[in-house]
Parts: sequence; structure tokens; C-alpha cells
Amino acid sequence: MRLEAAGAGPLVPGGQGGSSGAPPDGDQAAGAQNKPWKKLKNMVHWSPCVVSFRKRYPWVQLAGHAGNFKAGDFGRILKKYCPSEQKCLECLVCDALQPYVPAYFGVVEHDGETYIQMEDLLAGFDGPSIMDCKMGIRTYLEEELEKARQQPCPRQDMYDKMVAIDPAAPTPEEHAQRGVLKPRYMQWRETLSSTTTLGFRIEGIKKADGTCNTSFKKTRQPEQVIQAFWDFVDGDKSTLKSYLERLKEVKVALEQSEFFKVHEVVGSSLLFVHDHTGLARVWMIDFGKTVPLPEKQTLTHRLPWVEGNREDGYLWGLDNLIAILESMLGE
Ligand SMILES: Nc1ncnc2c1ncn2[C@@H]1O[C@H](COP(=O)(O)OP(=O)(O)O)[C@@H](O)[C@H]1O
Ligand SMILES: [Mg+2]
Repeated sequence: MRLEAAGAGPLVPGGQGGSSGAPPDGDQAAGAQNKPWKKLKNMVHWSPCVVSFRKRYPWVQLAGHAGNFKAGDFGRILKKYCPSEQKCLECLVCDALQPYVPAYFGVVEHDGETYIQMEDLLAGFDGPSIMDCKMGIRTYLEEELEKARQQPCPRQDMYDKMVAIDPAAPTPEEHAQRGVLKPRYMQWRETLSSTTTLGFRIEGIKKADGTCNTSFKKTRQPEQVIQAFWDFVDGDKSTLKSYLERLKEVKVALEQSEFFKVHEVVGSSLLFVHDHTGLARVWMIDFGKTVPLPEKQTLTHRLPWVEGNREDGYLWGLDNLIAILESMLGE
């Protein structure tokens, strides 16, 4: 894994200020949206990108597991119960991060299932555009890697997925056995996107015009991220400026947060939401893989990850994200 950049300060992309008119590379945003078949494929694959909550308003689930959400009372949503996420939301109620996470309204039963009731972050927007950015230099917990190591058999399904994305990725030995070990696959997958190189990756974007793109798995270069951001805000600098200000506030809160200091935060996202009124906000969501550290251990969230130190690179990724937005605004 390429982790040497973590801890070395934010990666400021060189010479990319301003709104480039060039279409993004590869599987990126605008190109994909212009192709109706691709749009349809995305919608089907990620079904459903737009979930209508009993016609109240169109609620959007951009990423994550389909079927995890239900409508709650107005302004609230229900997410399938996950003990670690519930514990986090409970702790966050009286933490410095509270203004930057969805408000938590306890646990409810619905049709025999348990749900976490939380604030619907889209409720205050008029036809919102939404982006989900998964933070950190890895998206699996150390304990998941450990567990994966206990599966000694090379996996053919993972080999097939690897070949489908990059036929040159498997080693000669992996080609010969037509299989890859799970930990190797998990680590390889992270290197495709900007997760290991920038400490965050774009998971999906849904714009107010209805276009939805979740094909960012190979969006790796800062230039590609910049293009996706310009497309997301339709070239609007003032929206971008509001996002930048909000990200700086989130960073200050993270640096003050007692909760953040003592948790390994993996697979959590920043949810960007704006609309035509100029309202633009960012919140932290998804604490399903946020786990407390052993007593007395703390994280910097900036140091490179070495297995065993549990560093997640969250703040390093946020520094990079801020630096990218600053470069776009010529700051
Ligand atoms: N509180 C919320 N308000 C509005 N939308 C949300 C909220 N939480 C999640 N979402 C939407 O659902 C998607 C998946 O949420 P997430 O919590 O990451 O689920 P999972 O645990 O399945 O990954 C997000 O990308 C976002 O579009
Ligand atoms: Mg998620």
C-alpha cells in the first residue's frame, strides 16, 4: 500500500486552480452522465439511488447498503440498527462534533426490526444536490484484516473482480491459481481510488437535475477529484466557498473532539448537500465502523497507518480535501 504520503502534510495538487472545462477521465462524472445507458446501469446497480419516502419528498440514498433506510417522522430517517453506530451517535450528542453529525433520536422498532432514528439532513433543502465522500486512508478495520487472514484459501471471486478491473493486477502466482487471498484483495482495492493517495474518495454524487453517478471507483488523481467537484457545484464558486468554510469548521471541531481522539473512524463519510438557494453544508455520517480504542490509546488521525497503530488518516484526508478546494478557489 502507498501510505508514505500520510503524515507528510497535505498533498496540494500543483497548477490546477480554476474551473477546467476538460471532461473528466475514465469512469468519471460528466462523461458518465452524458451516456443514458451508463446512467441507467448506475441506477439499476445502486438501486435505488432515489428513494421516495411515501411521496413526502424524494429522499436520496447515495451509497451504502440498499434497504438500510426507512422514512421516520417528518425530518427524520430510520437506519437499520448497528450497535457500534448507535453507541457513537449517543456519545456524539455531547461532543464538539455534535453540530456536524445528524441529531440522534434513539432506537425504534418497526415491523419487527430495530432502527436508529436520526435527523434527515436533506430535510432543510429545496431540491438538494448530494455528494458522499468516504474519509480515511483505509475503509476496513484492522480487525477485519485480521479476520480476512484467517481465510487461507485464495478466492476466485476476488480474482475475477480484480481481473475485470485490471487484468495486469494479479501476480503470476495469482494468475496461475486463479485466486487471490482476501487481505491482498482488500488492500489492492483501496489503491484504485484516492483512498490511499489522498485519504478520501468520492462514493457518489446525485445532482438536483436528477443525474446520479456512483462510478468513482477509479477516481484517483487530484485532477479527477477537482473535475468531479466542479461538476457537482455546476462551476459555482460561492457554493464551493461555503463548502470550504464548513470543512474548516469540521476540522476545528475534530481537533477539539474528545470522541474523535479515542475512536478509530473507518468507512465514515462526509455528506455534502447544497441547493439552488445557496445553502451548502457538510456533515459526518456513517459510524458503523467507528470503534473505541483500548483505554489510554489515542490517535492523531494524521500519521501513516502501520498495522497495529490503528491510525485511520481521517484528518490527513480532510487536510487534502481542504487543500484541493483551496486550490480550486485560487487560495
Ligand atoms: N442522516 C442522513 N440524512 C440524509 N441522508 C443520509 C443520512 N444518513 C445517510 N444518508 C444517505 O444514505 C447513504 C448511505 O448512508 P450510510 O450511513 O453511509 O449507510 P451505510 O452504512 O449503508 O454505508 C448516504 O450516502 C446518504 O446519501
Ligand atoms: Mg456508508
